[in-house]
Amino acid sequence: MIRRYDYGSPIETGAIPCPPPAQKDTMPYFSLHRAGASLSFSLPLSKDTFIFGLGETVRGINKRGHLYRSWNSDDGAHSEDKHALYASHNFLIFWDCAQLLGVFFDDPGFVEFDLGYSHANEAVITSKNGDLRVYLIEEESLLAVTRAFRKLIGRSYLPPKWAFGYLQSRWGYASEQDVLNVVREHRSRDIPLDGVCMDIDYMDGYRDFTVDTSRFPDLAALAATLHDEHIQLIPIIDAGIKQEEGYRICDEGLANNYFCTQENGQPFVGAVWPGRSYFPDFLKEDVRAWFGAQYASFLDAGIEGFWNDMNEPALFYSPSGLAAAIDEAEALRGKNVGIEDFFRIRRVFDQLAGNPNDYACMYQCVGGHRIRHDRVHNLYGMNMTRAASEGMQRHAPSRRHLLFTRSSYIGAHRYGGVWQGDNASWWSHLLLNLKMMPSLNMCGFLYTGADIGGFNCDTTEDLLLRWLQLGIFTPLMRNHASYDARNQEIYRFDSWQAMRNVVTLRYALLPFLYSEFMKCALTDACMFRPLAFDYPQDPTACRIEDQVLLGEACMIAPVYEQNARGRHVYLPEDMLMLRMRSAGDYDRVPMAKGHHWIELELDECPLFIRRGHVIPWAHAAQWVDAVDSRNLALQGWLDDQAIYALYDDDGYAPDVELSKGLTLIHVHRTKDGVCATGDGLTLNTKLIVCDEAAP
Ligand code: GLC
Repeated sequence: MIRRYDYGSPIETGAIPCPPPAQKDTMPYFSLHRAGASLSFSLPLSKDTFIFGLGETVRGINKRGHLYRSWNSDDGAHSEDKHALYASHNFLIFWDCAQLLGVFFDDPGFVEFDLGYSHANEAVITSKNGDLRVYLIEEESLLAVTRAFRKLIGRSYLPPKWAFGYLQSRWGYASEQDVLNVVREHRSRDIPLDGVCMDIDYMDGYRDFTVDTSRFPDLAALAATLHDEHIQLIPIIDAGIKQEEGYRICDEGLANNYFCTQENGQPFVGAVWPGRSYFPDFLKEDVRAWFGAQYASFLDAGIEGFWNDMNEPALFYSPSGLAAAIDEAEALRGKNVGIEDFFRIRRVFDQLAGNPNDYACMYQCVGGHRIRHDRVHNLYGMNMTRAASEGMQRHAPSRRHLLFTRSSYIGAHRYGGVWQGDNASWWSHLLLNLKMMPSLNMCGFLYTGADIGGFNCDTTEDLLLRWLQLGIFTPLMRNHASYDARNQEIYRFDSWQAMRNVVTLRYALLPFLYSEFMKCALTDACMFRPLAFDYPQDPTACRIEDQVLLGEACMIAPVYEQNARGRHVYLPEDMLMLRMRSAGDYDRVPMAKGHHWIELELDECPLFIRRGHVIPWAHAAQWVDAVDSRNLALQGWLDDQAIYALYDDDGYAPDVELSKGLTLIHVHRTKDGVCATGDGLTLNTKLIVCDEAAP
């Protein structure tokens, strides 16, 4: 059951395509408290209440105990003390033995989630503006609550199949030659690859939709060369538009009033990569149509994937903010600067970027009315993504496109995927990557992954290898690093062969991963789930934060500690462990329910398959289209029989239907061994372990 409650004058956010009518009664469970404009919702927590959800945030899968804020922020240091990252996903599930409640706070402004932080036995959610819709979801199980919410917010974005391949990226591929080198190094060493991301270096002076032809002389020719190698180019598009007369996008935006304004109606100016910039008002339909149409020139050049960035929107500074800061610094010239002045002036410059005062000077247009940006701040990235998605659909309707964004709000999941922002080459961020997967899935974001190896700071060989071992399971599998970080392409390291072998696993698993992804997207299910979702009666399973369920039949448990040569794993039921080194090199170890220490050398990673289930396993290939999804081996631990529902399609057509793509694989024991059948499939059952092997 889903009930909607409205407070104040809620803004239509687009999170929910067809909202149910608002209730007239008082919302149960929560007590309300007003203080000025703000409105707080309090819910008592028992000592056993779990809190799931909130999508892209720091800390655990169980969100209880911290203070989170919905305020999309460009913050490259995702340390544990942070309260907000790049996205706002205001969906939570409260669960204990007495209560199960899903709640979505549909408010695009500043919202604070005090989840047992101020008082351990209370959750207080505060909307700063007090204008919002709250949706209460009551169902029988965690899985059902999530499914009901996902159904409410609409189907998740479907990427093309090639987007499940390994992608290489770096801020700093500064020329066509750099890109070609990356491709050559991968292909010559048989490191599978499906795409290379182009960062801001390709642009002419950081102007969106331009190309610096001195360094990238013919983008269409480059795209064509790479297509011959089965590799896609994936350029970045930023939100800010350089302020410059004669730059077409800027001129058109000004001529048509497409940019966000100041209170006096003049265009708002803030600085990002190109310096002073304007910001398209993506909340306006005509602006979305205009901006979305700009992607066409790249599509015409043979490009089929994009990443949208800096769309919180990030602001380095406003001209007035910078001038005031410089004045303050100037006043210190010649002074003997001591502790107070030193810390103050440092703070003044630190606070220039993403300053709330600047967002409060920015205005957008909602439904024909001018509205202060900070009331709708969290919708900016979503609507940029929507603009891109709709523009691409209009221009090239016969294909799916790759699109992922940094900033998002619930609703953006219908238009694109998300990457998890500027993480660091820290072991804790490998674990954070894992923890974000189920939380993002609950909020509709299925196509997601983090910068493998870490974006900021210098990675280490072992960290990258271990991170790849997680990355093979995440739908977006991209190695990306900052310009000032150590080079971290696989081929830069002595152990590149071990890393390559890990990537081959991705391609062996591809039919399985694609099938699980598409089934989840088409049935509003989560591809990654906390163990609590499937084993709610198992108190040990419910508290596990470093293992997650993958698809219907699997569990993953990556190694996330430096120098570890194994890890502890809890199995909530009997499972077969594949201890994997490459697509053709793995051990199959049946294991009983319970606690285990498993040995895992640096080049080994585990995948657990529930007893009684099988999964498909392909011959690895160098790119996605070369993976033969019709000729499969089966992996698993069989009792008598098992069924796997394999979803597959051509990987490009936008109109997909679950029933058209499904082939049921039936596996059963016979007198002489194991027999498997599936329409049109060639199936190899040799790898299946039978119950005699039980521990
Ligand atoms: C932002 C992005 C990062 C990108 C950089 C340069 O920090 O998050 O991925 O490399 O900008 O465009």
